[in-house]
Amino acid sequence: MFIRDSWYVAALSSELDEKPISRMILGENVVMFRDSQGAVVAMADKCPHRGYPLSLGTVVDDQLVCGYHGFTFDCSGTCVAVPGQDRIPSRADVRIYHLVEQGCWVWIWMGRGEADLAKLPSTPWLTDKENWSMVSGVAKIDAPYGLLVDNLMDLSHETYLHNGSIGTPEVASTPIEVEVDDEAHVIRVYRHMTSVECPSFYSRTTGLEGKIDRWQDIEYSAPGFYLLHARIAPVGQPPLPDGSDDHAFHMKIFYGLTPSTKDIVFDFWALSRDFCVGDTEIDTFLQTMQTGVVQEDVDALNILQARSLTEIEPTEVSIKIDRGGLAARRVLNSLAEKELDGYSVEQGERSTLNV
Ligand code: FES
Ligand SMILES: [Fe+2]
Repeated sequence: MFIRDSWYVAALSSELDEKPISRMILGENVVMFRDSQGAVVAMADKCPHRGYPLSLGTVVDDQLVCGYHGFTFDCSGTCVAVPGQDRIPSRADVRIYHLVEQGCWVWIWMGRGEADLAKLPSTPWLTDKENWSMVSGVAKIDAPYGLLVDNLMDLSHETYLHNGSIGTPEVASTPIEVEVDDEAHVIRVYRHMTSVECPSFYSRTTGLEGKIDRWQDIEYSAPGFYLLHARIAPVGQPPLPDGSDDHAFHMKIFYGLTPSTKDIVFDFWALSRDFCVGDTEIDTFLQTMQTGVVQEDVDALNILQARSLTEIEPTEVSIKIDRGGLAARRVLNSLAEKELDGYSVEQGERSTLNV
C-alpha cells in the first residue's frame, strides 16, 4: 500500500506552465498547471462527465475546459459550466490537491484530510539563491519505490556503480553510523571519510586536488524526502568549535521519492552548493554529471526489477552497510501500519454513522 498522509514531490517547478500536464502519483491521475498569477494548481485528472483526462483540455481565463465536451472547472475544482444547459449537476466537481512550491520543486499532499503543513519538508537551500546555486531534474524508474529507498540509503554502491564520477574506494570501505528517530520517521546515516581521494565530481567544482576529508550525512524523512549533506574540506580541517565551517565546501543533494504505481517510482533530484554561486559553467557541469549518476541508478534498478519478475524465490543477504536501508524499511512499515489503523478507525466510524 502507499503511505498517503504525506507530502511528495509532484513536479519540477520548471515543468509547470499554463499548459496542463498529467502525472500518476500514488496510483491517482493528477493534472497540474499554473494560473494567470503563476500559482500552481492540481486536480484529479478525470472529467466527472465521461472520464476524459482533463490534462488533454485547455486553461482559459484560469478555468480548465475538458477537451471532450467542454465541462469547465475553476481552480477550486468547482464545475462552473456544462454544455447545452444552465443547471450544473451537483456531483460534477473534481477533487483538488494541495500544492506548495518551494524553490525548484512542487510538493503535493496526497492525504485524505486537510494538508498538514507542519509535515512539509523544509528546504531553505533551494530558495536562498544568494548563498546557494541549484540544479535539478527528474527520472522515471520502472521499479518499486522500495528499490529506490534501498539504493539511496546505502551509498557504498557509489564505489562500483558510479566509479567514474562520485565513487572512490573509500566510500565502500568506510564504516557507517546509523540513527533512527522513530517519532519523526527520520533515519540518519553518517559516513565520515578522512584523507581520501577527491572524486572528479568535486575536484572539478571545488578546485581541491589530492586528498580531502569527505562527509556524507544522510537524513531520510520517510516516506518521500531524502537529503544528503555532503561536506568536502582540506584534510584535517573540521568545523570550528563555534560551528562555523567557511573553509569547507557544502553540497546538499535532495531526492524526492514519489511512487507512481506499485511498480514505478519518480526520482526527483536537486543539488545545491554554497561555492561557485552563480557560476553557470559549474551549473552545466553538475547538471550533466548528476543526470549521468541518476541514470546509472535508474539502469541498475530497472535491471533489478526486471530480474525480480522472473525469479521464483528472491533472496537477500544483508551486511553492516545495509543497516540504514533496513531501518528505513522498518520505519516505512510502521508508517504504513499506522495509516492502515487510522483508515480502519475511519471506516468503523463511517459504518456506525450509516447505521
Ligand atoms: S468527458 Fe469531459 S466533458 Fe465529457
Ligand atoms: Fe547511486
